[in-house]
Amino acid sequence: MTDLLLLPGDGIGPEVTREARRVAEALAPELKIAEGPFGGASYDAHGVPLTDETLGAAKAARAVLMGAVGGPKWAGVPRDKRPEAGLLALRAGMGVFANLRPALCFQPLADASTLKREVVEGLDIMIVRELTGGIYFGSPRFIEELPGGGKRAVDTQVYTTAEIERVSRIAFELARGRRNKVTSCEKSNVMDSGLLWREVVTDLHKREFPDVQLEHMLADNAAMQLVKNPRQFDVILTDNLFGDILSDEASQLTGGLGLLPSAALGAAGTPGLYEPIHGSAPDIAGRGIANPLAAILSLEMALRWSLERPDLADRLYAAVGRALDKGARTPDIGGSLTTAQMGDAVLAEL
Ligand code: IPM
Ligand code: MG
Repeated sequence: MTDLLLLPGDGIGPEVTREARRVAEALAPELKIAEGPFGGASYDAHGVPLTDETLGAAKAARAVLMGAVGGPKWAGVPRDKRPEAGLLALRAGMGVFANLRPALCFQPLADASTLKREVVEGLDIMIVRELTGGIYFGSPRFIEELPGGGKRAVDTQVYTTAEIERVSRIAFELARGRRNKVTSCEKSNVMDSGLLWREVVTDLHKREFPDVQLEHMLADNAAMQLVKNPRQFDVILTDNLFGDILSDEASQLTGGLGLLPSAALGAAGTPGLYEPIHGSAPDIAGRGIANPLAAILSLEMALRWSLERPDLADRLYAAVGRALDKGARTPDIGGSLTTAQMGDAVLAEL
């Protein structure tokens, strides 16, 4: 049985996953690691971004660590064969409905954010984004020609009680192990799906989590509050589309997309999908200067949430912190280390 399936993917994906693999091999040599084709690389080799074999291997592994997918090379490919379509199919196929996206500011990097140090220092937010529903997957979706000329495009935002409840439960449970506060974000002032979201979260809170502090916030206000006073947040709970946007925004509070991991979790006992929040960065791909820390910290999340080795996760997290303390920096955070040298810096601290 594979413990960890690596899907390096496109752009800087293979470069950063290579470092995560070196760290995994050093930290837990007993782990069985395998690799599979995914994204644009899979499209080039097999004509589809996600083969049945790769999906099967992902579902059979204990954890999946992905690099990144996509790039200008596949811009002209039909939408259902684009690398991004492969990613959505992987998320849906694995049933990983809860996406945990931490935004935390490592002390030595507080000045790397475009926001003032006093606003971001000590920041520790966990965004819980619903990942397999909402407008990303709703039907109908189409573009049609109108008889009088022009076109009409339709996407559908759709959520059921069960979908909202299962992701909310994860957010409340996480909050209990943190600062005990959940901020649920939707647009209940204009959207029916937002109304249902608020209703379901409120009911679940009353029934199962009355000890957790719950606050509702309209998603546009949350976007503003994130840059105004980000430390008011502990756990942010939100849908697929708002979560996509708010997590990109939150990443910039920390001084670097290159540092942020994520975990996508499904039902208990099923494998999690771990990926850096950053994309494939085609502009720097192949130059060996990408920051591998987001991939390495995604491995940290995999050790914690799927591989049942929180002890190793703690060790790895501490090692990354020490490497940063000692000044290890790739160019994106103001240094000159290569991807491999940054991997070495973490390995040296293990
Ligand atoms: C993300 C990405 C993906 C998303 C894209 C690549 C499909 O932006 O993981 O946030 O929109 O979910
Ligand atoms: Mg995104």
